[in-house]
Amino acid sequence: MLLEVSGLYKAFKGIQVLQDINFNVKKGEIVSLLGQSGAGKTTIIRCITGLEKPDKGSIAVNGRLMCEEKDGKMVYAARDELYDIRKQMGMVFQSYHLFPHMSVLKNVTLALTDVHKLRGDEAQKKAMDMLQSLGLADKALSHPYELSGGQKQRVAIARSCVTNPQLLCFDEPTAALDPQTTRDLTKIIRNLAAEGMGVLIISHDIPFVESVSDRVLTVENGKIRDED
Ligand SMILES: Nc1ncnc2c1ncn2[C@@H]1O[C@H](COP(=O)(O)OP(=O)(O)O)[C@@H](O)[C@H]1O
Ligand SMILES: [Mg+2]
Repeated sequence: MLLEVSGLYKAFKGIQVLQDINFNVKKGEIVSLLGQSGAGKTTIIRCITGLEKPDKGSIAVNGRLMCEEKDGKMVYAARDELYDIRKQMGMVFQSYHLFPHMSVLKNVTLALTDVHKLRGDEAQKKAMDMLQSLGLADKALSHPYELSGGQKQRVAIARSCVTNPQLLCFDEPTAALDPQTTRDLTKIIRNLAAEGMGVLIISHDIPFVESVSDRVLTVENGKIRDED
C-alpha cells in the first residue's frame, strides 16, 4: 500500500477537527476526499505531508511510519526519517506557493539541486523535460506573475513531479480554474496516475472529483462517511 492512514485524530485548541480518519491510496490510484469547507480536509493533507502532527493514529507511506501509537503513546518518526519519507511525496497547494522572484525553470530545479543534490545541468535537463511534458517549455524563463492561473498551477505540478514522488497531494486544485483548464488538469492527473503515481485530492468540487477519481470518500465533521 502506498499510503495508509488509520485512526487519525487531531484537535486545535480543544476543538476536535479529525476523529478517526481511516483510508488508503494504492500505487497508480486517484483518491479524492470530498467535503464542505471546514470539514477537516486540509488538516488531513497537512498531517500526511508532515506539516501537522496528529494527536493519535498512524500514517505510513510505502510501509514507512511517519507516526504511530505504541503502548498508548504517540511516536513520531525521527527528523531524518521524516525528511526521507517526505521526499516521496509532492504537494500542490491551493495558492501554488511558487517563488515569485524566481523563473519558472528555477522554481522547478530548486528541489532537485537543493534537496536531491543533482548537478545543475542534470537538474536543468530534468526540469525542462517536465516543463515540456506539461506544455510549459516556452515559459521556462518567465516569472510566475507573467503566467495565467492554470499555467501557475502546471508549474506547481511540474515542481512537485520533477522529483518523482510516489504520492502527489492536491489541495482544492480547481478552486481558481475555468472549465477548460479543469479538463486539462483532469488529463494531467490521469496521465500521472497511469505512470504509477498515487494521487490524493481534497476538494469540494463534486463534478471534477467524480470525473477524475478512482474512488471518492466524503469527509464530514472530521470523519469519513461510510460509503453507501
Ligand atoms: N492551525 C489551526 N488552528 C486552529 N484551528 C484550525 C487550524 N487549522 C484548521 N483549523 C480548524 O479546523 C477545521 C477544519 O479546517 P480545514 O482542515 O482547513 O477544513 P477544510 O480544508 O475541509 O475546509 C476548521 O474549523 C478550522 O477552523
Ligand atoms: Mg481546505
